[in-house]
Amino acid sequence: MRKNIVAGNWKMNKSLQEGVEFAKALEAALAGKTLKCEVIVGTPFIHLASVASATKLNVAAQNCADKASGAYTGEVSAAMVASTGAKYVILGHSERRSYYGETDAILKEKVLLALENGLSPIFCIGETKEEREKNVHFDVVKSQTVNALFELSAEDFSKIVIAYEPVWAIGTGLTATSAQAQEMHAFIRETIAEKYGKEVADNTSILYGGSANGGNAKELFSCPDIDGGLIGGASLDVEKFIPVIEGF
Ligand code: PGA
Repeated sequence: MRKNIVAGNWKMNKSLQEGVEFAKALEAALAGKTLKCEVIVGTPFIHLASVASATKLNVAAQNCADKASGAYTGEVSAAMVASTGAKYVILGHSERRSYYGETDAILKEKVLLALENGLSPIFCIGETKEEREKNVHFDVVKSQTVNALFELSAEDFSKIVIAYEPVWAIGTGLTATSAQAQEMHAFIRETIAEKYGKEVADNTSILYGGSANGGNAKELFSCPDIDGGLIGGASLDVEKFIPVIEGF
């Protein structure tokens, strides 16, 4: 079922203590409010279990291994993520793709393992500045989607949340205009409809990410195909995150 979602992505920020304090403060700040969206916090691995047990917030990991278990030093499996109480896992973030060499083929494995372990992937796609300038941004976003996701059954695909994050907008203060974002979101939904049919496409939550904040969330979230946001910088302070959540 399509739902509105605002997900924070802490990236590599906050000690364990800071993260738990933050999560408790966020939960307290949200307590009296009528929310029009689901709120998720995407924490580093080591915070997951503590945040999930200290609060009722929905928790997401920011990655998981492409292998189920075994001799993979330093890796964290989807089963381990699920055992913390996390319900979601962010996969395919552009920082993982560009700094850690994550390809569509690797991401396909991660998505399968996440689903097998009952996690919903928040699957990130998006073009670089050069790709947009060369006018290949629709092709790039389509191939990222098709290559990693389109061998899933319709039932499995319906557990995926998509996050469109133009790389040029991430952490740069350069937000896509709501028209640019809406155009791409509509294209993504159409691409999903061609493969899985209109009902599945209409039920897919497609989030926007890239310098979204309290100042632009309302306009972005009012677009018909934008179902929320994946928020980096503005998710690190309660006072900055709440206005994004209240963008709905
Ligand atoms: P940003 O990051 O909001 O700081 O641009 C978004 C993301 O990378 O998910």
